[in-house]
Amino acid sequence: MAKFDLPAREKFGSKLGVVAAAAGSAVGLGNIWRFPYVAGENGGAAFLLIYLAFVLAIGFPVMLAELTIGRRAQLNALGSFKKLAPGKPWFLVGLMGIGAAFVILAFYSTIAGWTLEYLVQAIGHGFSNKSTEELKSSFEAFQAAPLRPVIWQLVFMFLTGFIVFSGVKKGIEKSTKILMPVLLALIIIMSIRSLTLPGAMGGLKFLFKPDFSKITWEVVLSALGQAAFSLSIGMGTLITYGSYIQKDNNLPVTALQVSAADTIIAVLAGIMIFPAVFAFGIDPAEGFGLVFIVLPNIFEQMAGGYFFSVLFFILLGIAALTSTVSVLEVVVAYFSEELNMSRKKATILGSVGISIVGVFATLSFGPLKDVVLFKKTIFGIFDYMSANILLPLGAIFIVLFVGWYLGKKNVQDELTNQGELKARLINVFMVIVKFIAPVAIAAVFLYGLGLF
Ligand code: TRP
Repeated sequence: MAKFDLPAREKFGSKLGVVAAAAGSAVGLGNIWRFPYVAGENGGAAFLLIYLAFVLAIGFPVMLAELTIGRRAQLNALGSFKKLAPGKPWFLVGLMGIGAAFVILAFYSTIAGWTLEYLVQAIGHGFSNKSTEELKSSFEAFQAAPLRPVIWQLVFMFLTGFIVFSGVKKGIEKSTKILMPVLLALIIIMSIRSLTLPGAMGGLKFLFKPDFSKITWEVVLSALGQAAFSLSIGMGTLITYGSYIQKDNNLPVTALQVSAADTIIAVLAGIMIFPAVFAFGIDPAEGFGLVFIVLPNIFEQMAGGYFFSVLFFILLGIAALTSTVSVLEVVVAYFSEELNMSRKKATILGSVGISIVGVFATLSFGPLKDVVLFKKTIFGIFDYMSANILLPLGAIFIVLFVGWYLGKKNVQDELTNQGELKARLINVFMVIVKFIAPVAIAAVFLYGLGLF
């Protein structure tokens, strides 16, 4: 393919823009919806401790590996592998990433759509005077409805498409630079409110006082899976974003800032949710419905609950949007660069294609709930396939590629900006990407498939 006739590739305009976009990708439903319920089901503080260790020892290096590939190659997730390893099968890793983007966005947009429904309900006083049972049954009725969740999903995909359509700088960078500070402010306000509830201490103890007897093999593995999903690694999102990062950006510092931001927001989400959960005597292992059933219940009982419920669902929607944008961009960059489409055409095709698949995921809570394979609904299959198969496999191949194929000389060259920066800890990084990360992730993968 003649790369020369393509228009010059867009780049993020500033360091802040890079961090906003990448943190926008990382911070999402994974932090605010998934982290609290997975932590709740896995014992709280003990889980958090292992999670933090994984972010530092594995998540951060994998993120850096992805950014390295993308910036080195200056291409989309598939093109990057083709360019760095011409004639080798490594491009299949990129192809798997594009497939994963379809699958992830298809089910992620289901839940993202729910946040819009709940925002509208919050605004319309929809939770007032409802008991826990009523909130539960109205959540179940909404999920199972044939039309409303689909419409919200399509609205969400439209918003996502609109931002991606507008380009890397004018769409993604500009929107995340506005939305991410808003998100941070909202979550801080919400955490303070939660901390000042009577009985909040129980929640803090649950989150920060580890009970080591709670640590099992399963807790360890779900912590690793959560870290990967939350940091947006293993799919090529960060390869794609890395390809828009300027050559003078300090990649290790960027990866550190993004990992730190993602982790801080996850912990803040815990601080926002657990004190409230304990203050109102709810089981922290409530699971999946924690933010859609339990939180409305809490808002309903809490002073200022109306105001905070609206803020919360705005927060959740923003978090989801800056993440869906990053997943769609993987597909759009691939369509436009490898299949020679304009960005606009690629965005329309990508969003429409994913929406069609996504509708099946949404309907699998209602009209299609009896369509099951391996005892899982369509939504369940997409979720399982991405988190337990595609992402871990992708992450393993990405670190193996950087460790064994790119090799230390190239990696050092890219990470030091051709010798401008000091190569501190490069040997540690190489040991992690060559050995530690692939082995650790492989353990999760085998466990996920039940082979371990
Ligand atoms: N990290 C996001 C979240 O926590 C979701 C996400 C965006 C993602 N891009 C990804 C997950 C790529 C895996 C791979 O909600």
